[in-house]
Amino acid sequence: MKTVSQISELRAQVKAWRQQGLTVAFVPTMGNLHAGHISLVDEAHKHADKIVASIFVNPMQFGVNEDIDNYPRTMSDDQQKLTAAGTDLLFTPTPDIIYPKGLTKQSFVEVPNVSDGYCGESRPGHFRGVATVVCKLFNLVQPDVACFGLKDYQQVQVIQTMVEDLSMPITIVPVATSREESGLALSSRNGYLTADEKEAAPVLQQNLQWLADQISIGFAKSDSIDFIGLARQAAKAINHAGLHTDYLHVCHAKTLQPASEDDTQLVILAAAHCGKARLIDNLQVSLA
Ligand code: PAF
Repeated sequence: MKTVSQISELRAQVKAWRQQGLTVAFVPTMGNLHAGHISLVDEAHKHADKIVASIFVNPMQFGVNEDIDNYPRTMSDDQQKLTAAGTDLLFTPTPDIIYPKGLTKQSFVEVPNVSDGYCGESRPGHFRGVATVVCKLFNLVQPDVACFGLKDYQQVQVIQTMVEDLSMPITIVPVATSREESGLALSSRNGYLTADEKEAAPVLQQNLQWLADQISIGFAKSDSIDFIGLARQAAKAINHAGLHTDYLHVCHAKTLQPASEDDTQLVILAAAHCGKARLIDNLQVSLA
């Protein structure tokens, strides 16, 4: 695997592949890679001839109270994992390469509606930062396909909507969440959990599953489903186990608007604090 940090080197390599008629898949990351990221590379291999990954801890998506300086940076470990997974090219720009004017004089991409609630509400400006950096990275790499993990469900919808709204010729491939045996979604943030917290954390996924089952049972019986009341019960059970639910909602799977009776494609979105970690998870529910 070749690692480059300059835009000119990235463009030259991708251009050479294009001239040979090869297709390119892209896996953007912020590093500190775990098996979930590697599953994105594995999926990318199914869609293109060459794989480009990036590691860039994007300052634009961190809030003022979020500690970007202490974000874990594990470059040589990450390089080994990406090499083993068959990545062809790794792009590792510095902030001044991506944002030469700094953050405040830079144009940005705002994706309305899908960015608004949930993590968008808890982390103001976060999805503007994500959409802007992903748009820039797409313009730099110009991939045919890009892979994103469904653990960040709202992020995937923001990026999919951006691609549709701005007519970007890129296919977004959502990749299923990788989980520990306990059901806990793999995340860099799990590193902040103590042994006790790690034992409690799977309660989040368990209650999303409980809620999904209640919805499916209600639908099968043609009952009217009290999405808000059921979500409240699930949040209560999560809090009872020692986590602190930030939000837990049943939503339309694409628009992310609160679910209504007629919706058949749903997603349950949740975030909960567990000790120092803010865990997010989700579960799709298909009723037809
Ligand atoms: O999911 C992430 O790691 C980041 O939000 C992404 C998509 C790489 C943009 O910085």
